Amino acid sequence: MIAIADLFRGPVGVEAAALSQADGELFPEERAFIQAAVPKRRAEFATARILARRALAALGAPPIPLVPTPDRAPVWPSGYTGSISHCSNYCAVVVARSRDVASLGLDVEDLRELDPAMQDLVLTPAERRWVGAQPRDIQAVLPILIFSAKEAYYKCQYPTTRGFLDFQDVELSIEWASGSFEARVLKAGWPAAVARLSGRFVVDTDRVGCGVEFVRG
Ligand SMILES: CC(C)(COP(=O)(O)OP(=O)(O)OC[C@H]1O[C@@H](n2cnc3c(N)ncnc32)[C@H](O)[C@@H]1OP(=O)(O)O)[C@@H](O)C(=O)NCCC(=O)NCCS
Repeated sequence: MIAIADLFRGPVGVEAAALSQADGELFPEERAFIQAAVPKRRAEFATARILARRALAALGAPPIPLVPTPDRAPVWPSGYTGSISHCSNYCAVVVARSRDVASLGLDVEDLRELDPAMQDLVLTPAERRWVGAQPRDIQAVLPILIFSAKEAYYKCQYPTTRGFLDFQDVELSIEWASGSFEARVLKAGWPAAVARLSGRFVVDTDRVGCGVEFVRG
């Protein structure tokens, strides 16, 4: 089981669980937002809201509806921030007080090999060379780790920039032994405050998890 809290340095609240179809705890506006979606998506959405409210309550936040913006980004209660990820039959949520952490990015993926076409999409030439130079026993896991780390970085930077990044716009330096990485935006003109953020990762028997946090200096 991935220890989500280990992915973050700041004081965070974490909840994780298997996906559940039970949407009885949703607010009417949340139910209205997701009602037309397919059952799997409804389960992801409902589980995330229930876990997020639980994690927020532990930090003292009031129970309010968590309806995303039209671009799907989560909206957090005033004074709080967080991030959500789901993969097959699993959902995890991390939250924090905004006075401690400006924004968070969490991503969890099923441990799997990325097919060659996806590797071409996700890995920069320098990352490909780095993967090729790593010990054989870890090489297979590195493409999905890079994918997940870039998704976590994207979620963390989004509240600051509201901007889109392609996988090729972000390059990672990964330190396998310490479970840490740095994400750096290659695209010119990206807001300096979030153009380079560090993160952590955990790999277990069936999932990889990545966390990135932005703490204003
Ligand atoms: C958001 C995104 C990064 C991950 O979404 P996903 O593949 O569905 O993966 P996850 O299940 O891990 O994450 C879903 C959660 O991400 C959150 N999310 C969605 N868009 C977001 C955004 N722009 N910023 C921050 N978080 C976002 C939501 O909370 C969502 O859960 P919810 O719909 O239940 O609220 C992806 O869909 C996306 O928008 N990608 C475009 C940009 C990109 O990937 N660039 C390459 C990396 S730099």
